[in-house]
Amino acid sequence: MPYKVTLIPGDGIGPEVADAAVRAVDATGVSIEWERVELSSKIIEESKTSVPQHVLDSLERTRLGLKGPVTTPVAGGFTSVNVALRKKLDLFANVRPVHTLPGLKTRFSDLKIDMVLFRENTEDLYAGLEHEIVKDVVESLKIITRTASMKIAEYAFAYAQKMGRKKVTAVHKANIMKLSDGLFLRCCREVAERFPWIEYKELIVDNASMQLVMRPETFDILLLPNLYGDILSDLAAGLVGGLGIVPGANMGRDYAVFEAVHGSAPDIAGKGLANPTALMMSSVMMLTHLGEHAASKKLHDAIGKVYLEGKTLTGDVGGKANTTQFTDAVIAAMNY
Ligand code: NAI
Repeated sequence: MPYKVTLIPGDGIGPEVADAAVRAVDATGVSIEWERVELSSKIIEESKTSVPQHVLDSLERTRLGLKGPVTTPVAGGFTSVNVALRKKLDLFANVRPVHTLPGLKTRFSDLKIDMVLFRENTEDLYAGLEHEIVKDVVESLKIITRTASMKIAEYAFAYAQKMGRKKVTAVHKANIMKLSDGLFLRCCREVAERFPWIEYKELIVDNASMQLVMRPETFDILLLPNLYGDILSDLAAGLVGGLGIVPGANMGRDYAVFEAVHGSAPDIAGKGLANPTALMMSSVMMLTHLGEHAASKKLHDAIGKVYLEGKTLTGDVGGKANTTQFTDAVIAAMNY
């Protein structure tokens, strides 16, 4: 029986990287029936709902998604479909592994960077509760709950325990937001006490940003509320070669949706320039989630080989290849 996976190519560079990821996953030999559902800023505008029903219906059937990015209008327009999807399916944990790729030259490639960010995915300033109190005075509500904070902290520590990770760093601004970030931090401390063999540290988000740039190799697991997790994910991506390569997973109790950290990259969309590594690496995570460890390793190692060789890389990481040439190289690397 093939696995059923909802494929949401999205818009911008989404369809280009999604096609590439599907070709690479299919080449591992794992049998997947892709249920392709279209989702774009245009469809959302027309359907007048942040998550159109056909997308939810498919995910409810398959419980598993591979998703490309979707454009969200800035300073107005509809609310983010990504935020809405994560809330609707209670995809409470956003997991983003960031590590040095073999052979890839970056400003930091002499260091061994290997960290995983655990970003709370359902609340904080992403609750979308904004209003104008009086003209020219607006308010955004930052929601932090014990339930969501405990869930992400427990998820991060359980992962650390399972994967033999040594240190968890909680990131906060509880010196200023004493109630909201204070609650998040208290939950992290409570969970940390149950895992005394895992080192637990706390860093204020501004200091964490500087430490990440100065000493990225000292970080192991980062545990963050939604907004800091979003920002520091891009920062961390920048340490290892950029958004073209960093994968992610949105995990809930009943559903899992795998998607890259990057957005729809309108500046390069439709030009065949996009780097599909991030969505391919998200697919590696998806295959592991399915228990298809051999296929997951096959794809992971093939990507590694292409980077180590360094001959067929896309422009964002210093190469000259286009999306298709890179994908062909990954597929060819699987067959050696
Ligand atoms: P972005 O991640 O789309 O692009 C930032 C920069 O990184 C651009 O220069 C882009 O060309 C480059 N880049 C990103 N992915 C790349 C790839 N795979 N290969 C090569 N270069 C790549 O971020 P931006 O410009 O802030 O957002 C664009 C749109 O994407 C916005 O509407 C935003 O809301 C949306 N977005 C959607 C996400 C999702 O659907 N999960 C996540 C983040 C942003």
